[in-house]
Amino acid sequence: MKLDIVTIFPEYFAPLDISLLGKARRAGLLDVRVHDLRDWTHDRHRTVDDTPYGGGPGMVMKPDPWGEALDTLVPPTTPTAEPDPEPGTDESGAREFGAGAAPATVPRLIIPTPSGRPFTQADAVRYAAEPWLVFACGRYEGIDTRVAEEARTRMPVDEVSLGDFVLAGGEVAVLVMVEAIGRLLPGVLGNADSVADDSFAPGAMESLLEGPVYTKPPVWRERPVPDILLSGHHGAIARWRRDEALRRTARHRPELLSHLAPEALDKHDRAVLREAGFPVDGEGMAD
Ligand code: ADE
Repeated sequence: MKLDIVTIFPEYFAPLDISLLGKARRAGLLDVRVHDLRDWTHDRHRTVDDTPYGGGPGMVMKPDPWGEALDTLVPPTTPTAEPDPEPGTDESGAREFGAGAAPATVPRLIIPTPSGRPFTQADAVRYAAEPWLVFACGRYEGIDTRVAEEARTRMPVDEVSLGDFVLAGGEVAVLVMVEAIGRLLPGVLGNADSVADDSFAPGAMESLLEGPVYTKPPVWRERPVPDILLSGHHGAIARWRRDEALRRTARHRPELLSHLAPEALDKHDRAVLREAGFPVDGEGMAD
């Protein structure tokens, strides 16, 4: 997978050289290129921001450097065509974008912003299947809106938020997304099962949070590992793990349980949830 990251702080991405993703890069599974947006400025001060039209606090990122950066990374094809609402893919999985234009491989442009739609594990899975992603890291009050509008005429563009909080810029959000995506690439994680078991993995335990985990020693500071995990009884261990996952989800993320299909819960599940104080079976469960 190829990743281009455009930022005014390339140093932020040093962590991509270490650990799992560093290994994936060295193994050739991940081709990450970090670009300094200021390389596409032409003034002495390498200016990337300006005051917002209409007034208001802060600064807005100027469209020109962004436009030139995207033109360099994704050279516009001629003639420019309206985006195909259902872009096709060629045999390599690369996307052809723009009905009528010469078939061109274009990336998906991902712009982290607190005003985007929520980024989820399902997005990470979807993005991990793409051949090429470009990340645009905004700073200040964001990037002039026309940049995303214009980019959308020639590539798919997603504006995504990591949550209901405001970061100082998109860099940390991109690091988070690259790690969430990168660990899903075939060959990156040692144990393929650990991806299927993730909390939020599509289909994994129907979106229950993962329960507690233990390793050796069997007793630590007078705290024993639950007997069941040492029993070797795989069926009972699976049931215990599910019970714990249900309890933890009820405690930390009750809305995830509200979204479960009724048939996703068996009688035992319902008893566990009832005991945990979570209403089930039309007992006032929120929808
Ligand atoms: N940039 C600033 N805040 C952000 C957030 N919550 N998610 C994604 N990008 C951001």
